[in-house]
Amino acid sequence: MFSCDYQPGLEGIPAAQSSISHVDGVEGVLEYRGVPIQDLAAQGSFLETAYLLIWGAFPTAEELAEFEHEITYHRRIKYRIRDMMKCFPDKGHPMDALQASAAALGLFYSKRALNDPDYIRAAVVRLLAKLPTMVAAFQNIRKGNDPVPPCDDLSYSANFLYMLSEREPDALSAHIFDTCLTLHAEHTMNASTFSARVTASTLTDPYAVIASAVGTLGGPLHGGANEEVIDMLDTIGSVDNVRTFVEHRLVNKQKIMGFGHRVYKVKDPRATILQKLAEQLFDKFGRDSRYEIALELEKVVAEKVGHKGVHPNVDFYSGLVYHRLGIPTDLFTPIFAIARVAGWLAHWKEQLEANRIFRPTQEYIGNHNQPYIPIHERG
Ligand code: ACO
Repeated sequence: MFSCDYQPGLEGIPAAQSSISHVDGVEGVLEYRGVPIQDLAAQGSFLETAYLLIWGAFPTAEELAEFEHEITYHRRIKYRIRDMMKCFPDKGHPMDALQASAAALGLFYSKRALNDPDYIRAAVVRLLAKLPTMVAAFQNIRKGNDPVPPCDDLSYSANFLYMLSEREPDALSAHIFDTCLTLHAEHTMNASTFSARVTASTLTDPYAVIASAVGTLGGPLHGGANEEVIDMLDTIGSVDNVRTFVEHRLVNKQKIMGFGHRVYKVKDPRATILQKLAEQLFDKFGRDSRYEIALELEKVVAEKVGHKGVHPNVDFYSGLVYHRLGIPTDLFTPIFAIARVAGWLAHWKEQLEANRIFRPTQEYIGNHNQPYIPIHERG
């Protein structure tokens, strides 16, 4: 039997063989199904990318139109799920609302017909279609409003922004948001993807798989860094404070949020793309002080710790973009989930194709043969 030394966090241990995505952190490469992320971001749409990730090949024009049509048709959520969301506490975190709602879909649609391609396709369509509606519904409900129903005339991304604000977004905002979803759609074997695959390996339903991944993404060490970028820029307050802020943090061995990456030792290719999108957005709608602070911060961090491979990561500019689009900060991680569901579903499908239930081992470091101490004798 294969054995290896214990590695905290399974660092460096392959947990699957996968053909979904590839990262080279030294060369700054990210590919989905072998296609460079730059090409998908420049020429593709999020739904086209989701199709590519999940089915392993680009859709034809006809297949894409049919997929988009199905997703548009399934955007609505059942009134019982809406009513359930109305019972959630307004102060609850939107990620918890999303996890509960995603799991609730299983109450309506779970059949576990995992060898039936039609069941798999229906689950993919429902999850891609309904997660954005659920995120927007909770946002409206917690403000005391009724959820805004999806608008069938709008594209996937334009419709999400519309459901949040009840205003049709301009074309540039919708395009940039769609590209953000593409950039966040997949990223190899991270914690939430691993969680999705472990859950999938038990042959449970896909709604449980996605609920489990959403719960994992919600932790501050995984999906939450772009929220913290905005808080950090607000704390810095002005361009003049940037240098002192960076020096103070480095002296105190504190991390600068939105910089550094476990895998990328050069600038995250997604950050490079997002930076250009952020520039377009700020040029059109006006620069604010946060953007100016961010530019100065990137300069000073490069000067101080660039030599250690610390560069902006995807969260640095995505926080700025979402903020400029008027999205509340605590929706940044649910939006990450809306995008990443494409990758999770691809991994769910791949896991089912060659499944073996996950059953790692452990190194027992406890005692043996301990006496049972009667309760009245315990101190
Ligand atoms: N600010 C300042 N210094 C940093 C930062 C940072 N953000 N990131 C790494 N460094 C320093 C480390 O302290 C280390 O210094 P040392 O060699 O003097 O001890 C050196 O750079 C090398 O760091 P690594 O070991 O390569 O980084 P590690 O893999 O431990 O951490 C991590 C990666 C956790 C992402 C870290 O960079 C970090 O906490 N960044 C801020 C939070 C953040 O933006 N997270 C989002 C990541 S992207 C994503 O999850 C989608």
